[in-house]
Amino acid sequence: MTQERCIPSHVAIIMDGNGRWAKKQNQLRAFGHRAGLKAVRKIVSYAATIGIKVLTLYAFSSENWKRSSNEVSSLLSLFIYALNRETKSLHKNNIRLNIIGDISRFNEQLQTMIVNAEALTKNNSGLVLNIAANYGGRWDILQSARNIAIQVKHGELMIDDITEERLGLEMSMGDFPDVDLVIRTGGEYRISNFLLWQIAYAELYFTDTLWPDFDQVLFDQAISDFNTRDRRFGGILVEEQSC
Ligand code: IPE
Ligand code: IPE
Ligand code: MG
Repeated sequence: MTQERCIPSHVAIIMDGNGRWAKKQNQLRAFGHRAGLKAVRKIVSYAATIGIKVLTLYAFSSENWKRSSNEVSSLLSLFIYALNRETKSLHKNNIRLNIIGDISRFNEQLQTMIVNAEALTKNNSGLVLNIAANYGGRWDILQSARNIAIQVKHGELMIDDITEERLGLEMSMGDFPDVDLVIRTGGEYRISNFLLWQIAYAELYFTDTLWPDFDQVLFDQAISDFNTRDRRFGGILVEEQSC
């Protein structure tokens, strides 16, 4: 009897390798980022088709400002371009778009576009697409702790009420299930300050494929690999694992 494949509810992807992909073809890094956007389109639509509930993509880390101003502005322009071009089609496909990260560092135009895109799609019931932009896992824990501190200061919360659940609710995506599967392309074996809290029990999958070359077939391979894992969550293996 063939067992049905388990589709992880929440997949998070560190989309790495655009620069090296461009270099391999003697192109500028920005060319690699544009090719990366094409891969994003394919993967988002595939994720929606196979029934993933939440897809979280790492687009720009809080450390990526360290890059040349040329590269940073090409990445931000690409973000603006993508929001302009893709929001309507995401909406048409019932996808809900969220941006996670400290957006206050972006210019007003970009901030307004983000707010509008989120507002337009907020009642959609299909795939939830989280784009991590100026995101850092440490920033996320910090902003959650700050919010908790403010509530305590205002007498809205008692110290004893600060539980893992309460702190978790203040984190980005606190209202969504934890990540089941993290995929990193580009051959590095690290988290690079992506989600920290939310990946406590995620399965990790690394591939050498550079992000612009990542496609549905490779995504399927990652999901098949996920299906071979025994998720114990600190307990002991139960024979019949449900998704
Ligand atoms: C990932 O690709 C995209 C971003 C970090 C924005 P890189 O730009 O890091 O590509 P490599 O790792 O230098 O090849
Ligand atoms: C991680 O890639 C960030 C994104 C994919 C947005 P980096 O290329 O910035 O990570 P490091 O510097 O190799 O750790
Ligand atoms: Mg990189």
